[in-house]
Order: sequence, then structure tokens, then C-alpha cells
Amino acid sequence: MLDKKLYIPEHVAIIMDGNGRWAKKRALPRTIGHKFGAENFRKITRYISKTGVKYLTLYAFSTENWKRPPEEIEGLMKLFHQYLIDSLTDFKDDDIKIVYIGDRTAFSPSLHKLINESQEQAKDRKGMVLNIAMNYGSRDEIVRAVKQLCNEAKDGKIDPDSITSKDISDRLYTGGIPDPDLIIRTGGEMRLSNFLLYQSAYSEYYSTDTLWPDFHEEDFDKAIIEFNRRNRRFGGV
Ligand code: FPP
Repeated sequence: MLDKKLYIPEHVAIIMDGNGRWAKKRALPRTIGHKFGAENFRKITRYISKTGVKYLTLYAFSTENWKRPPEEIEGLMKLFHQYLIDSLTDFKDDDIKIVYIGDRTAFSPSLHKLINESQEQAKDRKGMVLNIAMNYGSRDEIVRAVKQLCNEAKDGKIDPDSITSKDISDRLYTGGIPDPDLIIRTGGEMRLSNFLLYQSAYSEYYSTDTLWPDFHEEDFDKAIIEFNRRNRRFGGV
């Protein structure tokens, strides 16, 4: 359990990487790695909601992940389906408000429907906000915001010379919520992979070699302890 004296970041984002390698180490198919990864997603989300974090954003599927072999995509879609159904009850008990970010229209009609239902069912919950990034890509998100602003300018609703960075932030999928304070990446890579590019301008970055299915409560606690050692200056001194 975390020391009460520690500062708990308001918004934490996680790149859940390493399911494939976790499975490979055990001579199992990659989809089994995703299965354990999905199980961990449910457990760690519940834990994080109890630590005082107000917003948690998890990268579940990127706009580039469609490039994976069809059998892996199929396995992932089945898992999303199952775990989203399970999370409806799990997260209800924890009062977690589920929000989906990304272009959900690309999913099958049944998954799309489930995503809409799950968000609708959770909309009045008062606990941690869980943003699940599904078919999410940050460049795509920025392009959408720019298009929206151009259309508003064309319609005379906004003066192009008065556009601020807040106007852009407000039109991102994460509009209205604070930027992430801490971005955690499991699986050891040191890159953002098209995740929250605009929002992460001053986020603290934390990378761990631990593979996602092995990332448990104590690993999250370590990231929070490290975050507390950082001296955030936001460009100041
Ligand atoms: C990265 O591991 C993980 C993914 C592409 C997404 C899978 C995420 C989950 C299964 C979490 C569950 C989320 C929900 C909403 C149920 P990788 O395949 O890139 O691993 P590798 O780098 O070791 O190959």
C-alpha cells in the first residue's frame, strides 16, 4: 500500500505493452498473452481507482494495431468484447466512470454497441474516470481537432487569429480533463507510439521492463514513488 504522505498524480496514463513477449517466454500464442493482459487491466484499474488517482487513461488498441495478423486482431476483438462485458459489473462496484476515446466506428457493430452501452451505463458514476483508448491515434486526434476548428472558422464561429492551445486541447478526445501527470510504459520501450502527443507536453515519463501481464500493484506503487522524486518545472526554474 502506498505511503499516505506521497503525492498522488491526478491523471495517470499507461501504455500496456509486452503481452506478446510475455506469451513467447512461456511458448504460448500471443493471444494468450493478451488474455492475461486483459485480466490484469481489470485488476490494476480497480487498484488504481483506490489510490486516489482521478483519471486513468489506458492504451488498449491503436490506429496502427490493425496491421497485426488477422488472427491476432480477431483474438483481441473477442477479448475486448468479453472484458468490456465483465467490466460493466466490476467497475460498477468501484464507481468507475468508463469513457472510450478513439474512433469506435471502426469496430464491429456488436463491439461498437457494447462500447456505447458501457459508456452510457457508467455516465453518472462519481469515482475515477477510466479512459480506454480504442482505435486511438494521437495524430488522428489532432487532425480531427484541426478540422473541427477550420469548420468553426469557416462558419464564422471562431476567429482564427484568436485560437489558443486550450481551443485545441478542448477539441481532443480528452477535452475537459487535465493533461496526464505521469505516463507509464511497460515492456521496456522508450517511445510514446502515437499516444497523447499533444497532452504529454509536460508529463513525466516512466518506463519499466516489466511486461504488462506482470505489472501489479507494487509495480504501480514504484512508479508513484519515482514520480514523487521528480522535480516538475513546466519550463520554469
Ligand atoms: C501490447 O502488447 C498490447 C496491445 C496491443 C493491446 C492489448 C491490451 C490488452 C489486452 C489490455 C486489455 C484492454 C481491454 C480494454 C480489455 P504487444 O502485443 O505489443 O506485446 P509485445 O510488444 O510483447 O509484442
